Amino acid sequence: MKKGILTVLTAVFASLAAVADEGMWLPSLIGERIKDMRSKGFRLTAEDIYSVNKASMKDAVVLFGRGCTGEIVSAEGLLLTNHHCGYGAIQSHSTLDHDYLTYGFWARSRDEELPNERLTVRILVRMEDVTDRIAAGADKLKLIQAARAEGPGYDASVEEMYYGNQSFLFVYQEFSDVRLVGAPPSSIGKFGGDTDNWIWPRHTGDFSVFRIYAGRDNNPAAYSPDNVPYRPRRHFAISTRGVKEGDFTMIYGFPGSTQQYILSDAVDYVQNLSDPMKIDLRTRRLDIISAAQEADPKVRIQYAAKHAGIANAWKKWQGEVAGLKRMNTLAAKRDYERRFAEWAADKPEYAGLLDSMRAAYARGREPYFHQELLSESIRSLELYPLVRHGVLSSSWRRGEDDAIAEQRRIKRAAFLKDYDPAVDRALVKSALRGFADYCPEGFSAEAQAEIDRHGGMDAYADYVFDHTRMLLPQEEIERLDSAAVVSDPIYRFVVLFDGKRAPEYYRRNLSNISDIERWYRPYLRALRAFDPDRAFFPDANLTLRVAYGTVAGYEYADGEYHTPQTTLDGIIAKDNPEIYDYDIPQRLRDLYASKEYGRWGVEIDGRRTVPVCFLASNQTTGGNSGSPVLNGRGELIGINFDRTWRSTMSDIAFDPTICRNIAVDIRYVLFVIDKVGGAGYLIDEMEVR
Ligand code: ARG
Ligand code: ASP
Repeated sequence: MKKGILTVLTAVFASLAAVADEGMWLPSLIGERIKDMRSKGFRLTAEDIYSVNKASMKDAVVLFGRGCTGEIVSAEGLLLTNHHCGYGAIQSHSTLDHDYLTYGFWARSRDEELPNERLTVRILVRMEDVTDRIAAGADKLKLIQAARAEGPGYDASVEEMYYGNQSFLFVYQEFSDVRLVGAPPSSIGKFGGDTDNWIWPRHTGDFSVFRIYAGRDNNPAAYSPDNVPYRPRRHFAISTRGVKEGDFTMIYGFPGSTQQYILSDAVDYVQNLSDPMKIDLRTRRLDIISAAQEADPKVRIQYAAKHAGIANAWKKWQGEVAGLKRMNTLAAKRDYERRFAEWAADKPEYAGLLDSMRAAYARGREPYFHQELLSESIRSLELYPLVRHGVLSSSWRRGEDDAIAEQRRIKRAAFLKDYDPAVDRALVKSALRGFADYCPEGFSAEAQAEIDRHGGMDAYADYVFDHTRMLLPQEEIERLDSAAVVSDPIYRFVVLFDGKRAPEYYRRNLSNISDIERWYRPYLRALRAFDPDRAFFPDANLTLRVAYGTVAGYEYADGEYHTPQTTLDGIIAKDNPEIYDYDIPQRLRDLYASKEYGRWGVEIDGRRTVPVCFLASNQTTGGNSGSPVLNGRGELIGINFDRTWRSTMSDIAFDPTICRNIAVDIRYVLFVIDKVGGAGYLIDEMEVR
């Protein structure tokens, strides 16, 4: 009896805790969550998180580039983000003589900070619920234009929440002079590489350092040597007191995309059709690339970034399928929908809703699958850039001005530097076969005729590569006339196999896809009435959000608990000069040997070490990379960069017992800057407590 009550109570508390960790909340509405946050250890107020009138934390968070987050950590615009977010910038400054990717980079003075042509950051000025104004007839475009005119460098957008049930105006200030200040060597910033990607225990020092520059008036300005460091309204102080299991954590950043409210039909599609197809096709591609990489060190380098890009989502989808199955999301959603349907049965507005949605899914499933299949097979091929760079730099475009032609030559050369025709030939064969395997209707009649004419898919691919002129040296390709280009087998391939030439039934049904979306607006409205106790939050859409939770390990497998903190000792244990992903810089080995950890060393279980990464239970997704991880006082304790592999179904269904985000501990960041980079002067401008 007594035990019965206890079990019930535990279950109640567990489910309360569960609700608490889930969510990506809108900062302007965070007041609704603040009681719960404070009960978990948050010490500040809603106004500290977001305020339009006074400086608040939001002023120290930036959208970094187009899909990452960063945080300002000094009064002079110093910015932290991930190494994998700064990768493009670091790479673009790297040459054989100055290989910053391999050896790292540290600006020794402000003069040495490196400008980046296409890198911008955005800071949120304010957000505003404009649902009523739009309902009353306000024009979205006018709202945006008015907001743009409010201040220097201002940009704005109207974003829909809950499938358009609510609209918010987001006003940003955008800075375009963002300079690279420092980056660790890849053997620290990318330590563990693809092997450890999405994995815990993790030991990656995934950070890089930038600085925002502004005009003398502190407003955004295009790059100029006269620009000065930006003086932010607010920057984060840093805490080196460390974290322990159960401590409050909060993530403030720009999560990209989630689908929390999709129907079971959509889960079924993802779990049983889409993800398995994408995983299978990527397995085939990765097998081809890996084999070529093992056979030839040149290919290993050429295809390193491509391999990483393909493998990242590939691994994530595997975790997603496993997680959805383990959570039984499909059955849970079906049950939820059954109860919803019962509730809706006597409400004329909603009674037919689920049936309409189901019908829309039934119609949209095949064309949508086709679209995904096409992009994972034919459209993933590098024949597209090959044609683009080849054709456009050829002389049939003569007449364009020299500077543009030169740009095209440079682009083509850069593309070919990392391109191996033999690998691509194998990938083309694999893509054709993959497409055919998953598309019973097969290729369009024209495309099939072309394949047949050459004696099958493999023979056709061989013909294409044996006869193309798109791989000729630059001087020769520039002499081709337009007739030679349009009859080139690669050019013909692209034209024949592109989606526009897809079978008729596919084109006819493509419009059904958008049909599904419009049903979600009334569905979400209905859900809120049906399930009033549920804490609804809008799906991620690359707008600023707050997530909160605690530092937490988790039960990885029966009897196997993963604790939430890793240390330098774990790096040393993985260190292996023979394994590319685990070969650390000699400097790190020396520091470990001499135990010169300075103020960044700590005592853990009686040994002196440096903390490296930690786990927490905040709901995050792609785009949260680089986000500040904050403690209850709003001080920076880490930089978010990943989730565990088994968490990745959280984009669809969040499981508080399993879902964990991974952060690099701020003490490791400071240790690397100071002791490995010898750039301690950067720490002097931070507020380290
Ligand atoms: N999995 C993380 C994310 O989705 C990190 C990716 C970069 N790291 C890598 N080894 N590929 O972005
Ligand atoms: N690694 C992801 C990013 O780059 C974060 C995640 O998916 O957890 O944004």
